[in-house]
Amino acid sequence: MVQLSSIVFLTAAWGTVIAKPAVNPFRIDLSARIPHLELLVNNTDLPSKPLYPGAGPEFGLQLDFLRDLKTQWVEGYNWTQQEVELNELSHYTTTIGEQTVHFVHEKSQDKDAIPLLLLHGWPGSFHEFLPIIKPLTDDVDTAKLFNTLMVDVLGYPKYALHGTDWGSDVGYSLYESFNSSVRAAHFVFTPFTPPTPQDIADNNITLSDNQKVTLQRTVDWTTTDQGYINTQAFKPNDIALALYDSPVGQLAWIGTFFNRWSDPRAGTGPSALTKTAILTAVSLYYLSGSFQSSVWQYALNTNTLRNYTMPSTDAPMLWSQFKYNIKLFPEEYVAKTGNLVSYKEHDFGGHFPGLDNPPALIEDLRDIGLYFESLTSR
Ligand SMILES: *[C@@H]1O[C@H](CO)[C@@H](O)[C@H](O)[C@H]1NC(C)=O
Ligand SMILES: *[C@@H]1O[C@H](CO)[C@@H](O)[C@H](O)[C@H]1NC(C)=O
Ligand SMILES: *[C@@H]1O[C@H](CO)[C@@H](O)[C@H](O)[C@H]1NC(C)=O
Ligand SMILES: *[C@@H]1O[C@H](CO)[C@@H](O)[C@H](O)[C@H]1NC(C)=O
Ligand SMILES: *[C@@H]1O[C@H](CO)[C@@H](O)[C@H](O)[C@H]1NC(C)=O
Repeated sequence: MVQLSSIVFLTAAWGTVIAKPAVNPFRIDLSARIPHLELLVNNTDLPSKPLYPGAGPEFGLQLDFLRDLKTQWVEGYNWTQQEVELNELSHYTTTIGEQTVHFVHEKSQDKDAIPLLLLHGWPGSFHEFLPIIKPLTDDVDTAKLFNTLMVDVLGYPKYALHGTDWGSDVGYSLYESFNSSVRAAHFVFTPFTPPTPQDIADNNITLSDNQKVTLQRTVDWTTTDQGYINTQAFKPNDIALALYDSPVGQLAWIGTFFNRWSDPRAGTGPSALTKTAILTAVSLYYLSGSFQSSVWQYALNTNTLRNYTMPSTDAPMLWSQFKYNIKLFPEEYVAKTGNLVSYKEHDFGGHFPGLDNPPALIEDLRDIGLYFESLTSR
């Protein structure tokens, strides 16, 4: 078993590489807005029953799901406690160009641990990685993997990265552009267009039963689940202003994805996705006032899909395909985008595996160590 650590992750840097700017310790302190949030949540009415009781998730957010979460937000949720837990991580801010970047930097006790950059997407936040950080940094008795420790908090000469959703766009750019510093990359998502069922048939690719489920989800997502992209990319102000001061509205808009894009068994074992986790994700957006900018990211980054090309790097790439993710990338397609050394399938977990199947994600991230060492010690 190998061990990874020295985790760095960014919450707002789009494709930016960190130089050596001033780094300031940072603590989350958003409780001043909690009374306002509680008042608004408690005073928001929801319909007493669904307008069309038979309309399932294919029609979007389910009323009882939203109502349960709303009730818990008022009666069974303690932001202060969440904030205490979030502040157990070491947060920092720094300014790169004109952008202030918030990041968490957790160092392993193991001086030979591999630095790992975690890049999330929308509607995620650093919170999405909470369940995986401690296990990845705690384990110290392990084989020596890598001798070069990074000298500066953000100036590690070589590192590994993990990317999902938008974070996979950023991560992939780093992977292809910085082939001497990014020495391994793990993805669960990628900026390339997933193959259609016709593409898969034309290429004689045989899918596993799990992959067939993911393919259907890909088709569903592509054909009926892109409304949020159109709104956020072309008319971001419509939704950003409509929901600016509506915590329940933001819960509905964001929560629907945590629900629909996760394993349908989310919330039952072995899934670790809880209502509290969703409420914390939404609370972070609301309390920090970042819902607007998170929506605008789509307008500022259009046309991000790319053609399949082999990048100019020999750094190993690892892939984890979660059954309930919203895009299927068969091994044959991932292999066209890098030096693929590991392709694993998981029959539990969806688009936020850090929240609904952290053990599998942790295991796959630890695999980075198998490849990171051999290629960097030459
Ligand atoms: C929520 O509103 C109800 C009804 O107005 C009130 O009785 C209750 O105290 C409120 N709860 C909170 C947490 O504000
Ligand atoms: C909320 O959590 C904080 C920190 O753990 C604790 O001090 C406080 O008593 C809790 N509040 C409630 C109402 O349970
Ligand atoms: C798929 O299989 C068919 C029939 O064996 C063959 O004619 C075709 O060339 C194959 N396509 C690819 C892309 O390998
Ligand atoms: C992708 O490839 C097609 C066909 O070669 C080309 O027309 C298109 O401009 C390419 N798109 C990008 C983003 O490079
Ligand atoms: C790294 O990128 C440079 C510039 O594109 C290229 O010359 C070099 O061959 C690449 N290294 C590897 C190992 O691909």
